[in-house]
Amino acid sequence: MKIYLKIWRQKDASSKGKIVDYTMNGIEGDMSFLEMLDILNEDLISKGEVPIEFDHDCREGICGSCSLQINGRPHGPDRLITVCQLHMRSFKDGDTIVIEPFRANAFPVIKDLIVDRNAFERIQQAGGFISVNTSGRTVDANSIPIRKENADKAFNAAACIGCGACVAACKNASAMLFTSAKVSQFALLPQGRIEAAERVQNMVRQMDLEGFGNCTNTGACEIECPKGISLENIARMNREYLGASIKG
Ligand code: SF4
Ligand code: FES
Repeated sequence: MKIYLKIWRQKDASSKGKIVDYTMNGIEGDMSFLEMLDILNEDLISKGEVPIEFDHDCREGICGSCSLQINGRPHGPDRLITVCQLHMRSFKDGDTIVIEPFRANAFPVIKDLIVDRNAFERIQQAGGFISVNTSGRTVDANSIPIRKENADKAFNAAACIGCGACVAACKNASAMLFTSAKVSQFALLPQGRIEAAERVQNMVRQMDLEGFGNCTNTGACEIECPKGISLENIARMNREYLGASIKG
């Protein structure tokens, strides 16, 4: 296949970026999207040009680092997969593909396609944990009965990989889906109830401090989330927050 690429190039956080055109020949459908970018970079390096910086690590849909906006959609045209799981068979000969970094004030561009998503780390640090006594008297988690329905919902919420696609998909750059997944994975379990009120207040406060917008209720985040995180989690976080605020 012959593919025309339009890729965001930006030298560093303080430089102005622009779209640069590249043409690639001999692209096979079985190549992954990131392999296609690897080939482009090898070509750029062989010509003495600066390769395109993009984030990736596991290339298995686990780490959440391969966050690219492809033809205006976070993680590209296919549903429930990350960029590293996307293959070139999703495109056809002669296609033009526009590749940009995730766009949000809280995710500043570091270079080319790489954004700084440490805002998510700070939200996690504000409450994404439980405090347990590790003095040797820790109760085995399996000895605490948990309703199957709640265990499943907590597990599904914990599937969030912190990729940021929900933020990139939202016209308000809201981080509600991410934050609510992190709140829910603990709120649904007895071990997480002890600090639940404090957790939701701290995480929501940090989310606001980072400059993420409010929920638009349009559901774009749920559509673009590669892990199928449900909007139900946002409703749960709102209930948790209201309950915590009333409690004081
Ligand atoms: S909720 Fe989905 S889209 Fe948002 S960070 Fe988690 S996995 Fe990514
Ligand atoms: S590189 Fe880890 S999820 Fe894509």
